[in-house]
Amino acid sequence: MNTDQFLARLACPVVPVVVVEQVAHAVPLAEALFSGGVSALEITLRTEIGLEAMGAIKAAFPDQLVGAGTVLNREQFRSAIDRGADFIVSPGAADALFDTAAKYELPFLPGAVTGSEIMTALDRGYRTLKFFPAEASGGAAAIKAFSGPFGDLTFMPTGGITPDNLATYLSVNSVVAVGGSWLTPRGLLREGQWEAIYQLAREAVEMCASLRSEVQQ
Ligand code: 3PG
Repeated sequence: MNTDQFLARLACPVVPVVVVEQVAHAVPLAEALFSGGVSALEITLRTEIGLEAMGAIKAAFPDQLVGAGTVLNREQFRSAIDRGADFIVSPGAADALFDTAAKYELPFLPGAVTGSEIMTALDRGYRTLKFFPAEASGGAAAIKAFSGPFGDLTFMPTGGITPDNLATYLSVNSVVAVGGSWLTPRGLLREGQWEAIYQLAREAVEMCASLRSEVQQ
């Protein structure tokens, strides 16, 4: 699967960015998000059990898109693939990751937020980048501005995206998806509030559907 095929499988272009603190939470939380209609989950490797959690989700939902986020080095990249990751996301654009990614055929979304970082990724053949941290780096306006010099690039912004600014991001032509942790607030996760997480997913998916129908009218 390449990045375009990955993006085409997102019925709603919202990818929950999840910090799992307990392996036992992984499958019920994924169940809630997938039942709510999201098409892909990014499990961050910010916790010790991130990889294990991602592997458990992929094993329970082999047909769904499950990826690893916050991938910072080669070892994490390879371990995520060993655990079944369908896609890899990084907050940066490091040479070591580009070199490793070149050996595999799976979507890799490197992070970029400056002209130089974007050009490094372009030079490596990337056309879809994670724009992180989105809000702190100028938000939707900055992404629009990059469309001038980098016309054929597309972005998956993350960092500071919420239901309040989701529509603004999704209205930018070069934004093909957004990521965010608002669907899995730490408090709800810790308390195992799966129904509430399901509702957050449903709301995001409904918002995507209504934005899409506005665009089509
Ligand atoms: C990420 O890794 O993509 C971000 O930390 C998600 O940012 P958010 O918590 O502001 O949604």
